[in-house]
Amino acid sequence: MANVLITGGAGFIGSHTCLVLLEAGHQLVALDNFATSSPESLRRVLAIAPPAAKARLRVLEGDIRDPLALDQAFSLGGGRFDAVIHFAGLKSVDQSVREPLSYWDVNVAGSRNLLSAMIKHHCHTLVFSSSATVYGHPHHIPIAESAPVQPINPYGHTKAAVEQMLADLASTVIENQAVAPSAERPPWRIARLRYFNPVGAHPSGRIGEDPLGPPSNLFPFVSQVALGQRPALRIFGADWPTPDGTGIRDYIHVMDLAEGHLAALEALWNGPAQMLTLNLGRGRGYSVLEVVKAFEQASGRSVPFQFVARRPGDAPWSVADPSEAGRQLGWWARRDLEEMCRDGWAWQRSHPQGYRSVG
Ligand code: NAD
Ligand code: UD1
Repeated sequence: MANVLITGGAGFIGSHTCLVLLEAGHQLVALDNFATSSPESLRRVLAIAPPAAKARLRVLEGDIRDPLALDQAFSLGGGRFDAVIHFAGLKSVDQSVREPLSYWDVNVAGSRNLLSAMIKHHCHTLVFSSSATVYGHPHHIPIAESAPVQPINPYGHTKAAVEQMLADLASTVIENQAVAPSAERPPWRIARLRYFNPVGAHPSGRIGEDPLGPPSNLFPFVSQVALGQRPALRIFGADWPTPDGTGIRDYIHVMDLAEGHLAALEALWNGPAQMLTLNLGRGRGYSVLEVVKAFEQASGRSVPFQFVARRPGDAPWSVADPSEAGRQLGWWARRDLEEMCRDGWAWQRSHPQGYRSVG
């Protein structure tokens, strides 16, 4: 059983990962300031988790930018964590263009603060939430981890900056180790996980994605149209160089992603000092029109749409080469588009107002 700090544990991916980790027998402290989430998600996690797991999750309200909150989290974890999974951050591309300093503050300064606390408390194992957004406009599909990192918006710049911070940390230690292994500079075990497009929900329909305000991502928007909360989907561009003219993305079920975190945690925990950089995607792309059709089938509802101009900054294709994660972690995404739509719909229909809904 690993003792793990999960920052941002109440969020969309964090809550599903907490559940998967509890089911696997690990012990967790979830630290979250609930800036973009609700504490209700973790209450639901406890309700779904096996009874014996309930005592293994503690929740602390606090901000990763606050060193005292981090010290408190470490004390709650008994003074020492075996690993940290770091989800906490801001993730809206649009908002990052309007408020870049908030993104540098939370995503970069917050991560730096967390790393300082980890060093202070002798924890050197970290799984970090990066994003396929670091690839910007990829030149080659499928995208391998060796593709250039060239983000095209402030959100992407902050993810690339934290990736670089982690690489600097890891390489400093490795050089020192080669010269003189030292107890003061223990080796880092780091996984930089680049997610493609996480969607869907836990199959119970009790936890899921709860965006603040109008969603900018395709899946939550389509769900709200199917539910009648929005009149129609606007499809950004019908003239992309793709088979049906709409954008293609590599959607991955959030439960597969959560299991990817479990695999990464266990690989690092049992493994040598190393820094892994891994795409977490399915390696299969779907167009916007294919998603609309699959969602209509899963929900039995129609999803009216209209074509509008391309969204600035969009790329036509984004599909992962996920083979390195398969090799390093023995993990592959298993759930298909039908399952993503079915589970996403089960959550949306029972929670039209997200966690503010009753039930
Ligand atoms: P989310 O917004 O649902 O979760 C982020 C969590 O971090 C929330 O619970 C929020 O309250 C918390 N948080 C924010 N600022 C904090 C702070 N200063 N201190 C403590 N907690 C704070 O987002 P998500 O989709 O679960 O994403 C999790 C991580 O994965 C993020 O780092 C995001 O950038 C990254 N990511 C997400 C996607 C995606 O499409 N969902 C894709 C690639 C990468
Ligand atoms: C967006 C972010 C990316 C982030 C990812 C996952 C941008 C430019 N990029 O990527 O940084 O990592 O989310 O959170 O915002 N679409 C529509 N109508 C809509 C919404 C989307 O047609 O209302 C289309 C898009 O043009 C795209 C596809 O659906 O072709 C998927 O869009 P989205 O869910 O926003 O994900 P990304 O564009 O991959």
